[in-house]
Amino acid sequence: MWKQAIEDAVAKTQRNMSVHGMTFPHIDNDQRYAWGENNDWIEGFYTGMLWLCYRYTGDDAFKKAAMEQGSDYRRRLDNDIALEHHDIGFLYMPSAFAQWRLTGDESAKRLALDAADKLLGRWRPKGNYIQAWGPAGDEKNGGRIIIDCLMNLPLLYWASETTGEAKYKDIACIHAEQSLRYLVRGDDSSYHTFYFDQESGIPVGGGTHQGYHDGSTWTRGQAWGVYGFALSYRYTRDPRFLEASRRLARYFIAHLPKDHVAYWDFDAPIEAGTPRDSSASAITACGLLELIEHLEEGDAERAYFQEHARRMMESLVKHYATIGDETAEGLIRHGSYSVRTGNAPDSYMIWGDYYYLEALMRMEQGFAGFWYESE
Ligand code: GLY
Repeated sequence: MWKQAIEDAVAKTQRNMSVHGMTFPHIDNDQRYAWGENNDWIEGFYTGMLWLCYRYTGDDAFKKAAMEQGSDYRRRLDNDIALEHHDIGFLYMPSAFAQWRLTGDESAKRLALDAADKLLGRWRPKGNYIQAWGPAGDEKNGGRIIIDCLMNLPLLYWASETTGEAKYKDIACIHAEQSLRYLVRGDDSSYHTFYFDQESGIPVGGGTHQGYHDGSTWTRGQAWGVYGFALSYRYTRDPRFLEASRRLARYFIAHLPKDHVAYWDFDAPIEAGTPRDSSASAITACGLLELIEHLEEGDAERAYFQEHARRMMESLVKHYATIGDETAEGLIRHGSYSVRTGNAPDSYMIWGDYYYLEALMRMEQGFAGFWYESE
């Protein structure tokens, strides 16, 4: 089943590549992708899918297309285009970093390191956090962190490993600790975002951006936490991060509907037509597969997490994937971007497609994701 799903994904990516050239898929309300420029937080996932396909097939056409896109990330960084946010990891890990890993291209490695410096520029020492959105001092967002940021930290951890400079890892580690302290709640659910007073650094309180309400658990945020804390453990071996990933995973699994694919928010009322977020389940499947890599063979929960990753993926493949639909551009249906604001509440999400393919490759080949695979 996994192999057939991967081959369908590769064929769709190949078709997208020949039809859409150097443009990037943007999220659309009309259950499709709109194709445009490299100017959002999501483009890295499409370039990353080209690299995933290259890694799977060895076909140079994927490499060529990914390399062409790669040069646009240098232009974007040098000209500071739409980079006033923390998603530098989401942009530069699946593009520049993957390029270096798969081709040994030193200029791509330099680009990934420059991107790490850019991310480091978002460190706010008064409150000890990486600011999620907007410029320093921003009235609304200057004191704000979000759980998604955990997924950007591997860029910093890796930068320390590569340069020997501790500052990247130190900051990533403190930010992960702050995320654990303030974003993860006692019942293993999570806030999407948390505010600090940006002048004094005093913690103020939790809130949401894309969730149902301030105290709810936004499904994708929980998914970023499952995967992100497991990654922080990979780089730091700090058992608190492993435990955090485990706790968030337990909550996620315990609150799934029968078909193992999450609704958009764990606290949203479930009625006919309540949107799912298939992307959250794809991310969580990757997170679970990452998490179990760090659990001892005899760990009581290892088989449980493995089985739930399998169930999620099986449901995605059988009921959400576009396998066999030759006109579809996306890989999994029923992702949601921002249900509350009506922005693509039921559509393809390019990160959903990316993590779906990554999870399939993990299941089929034991692939460990670009940023953790040994050189
Ligand atoms: N990182 C933004 C989102 O997950 O929608």
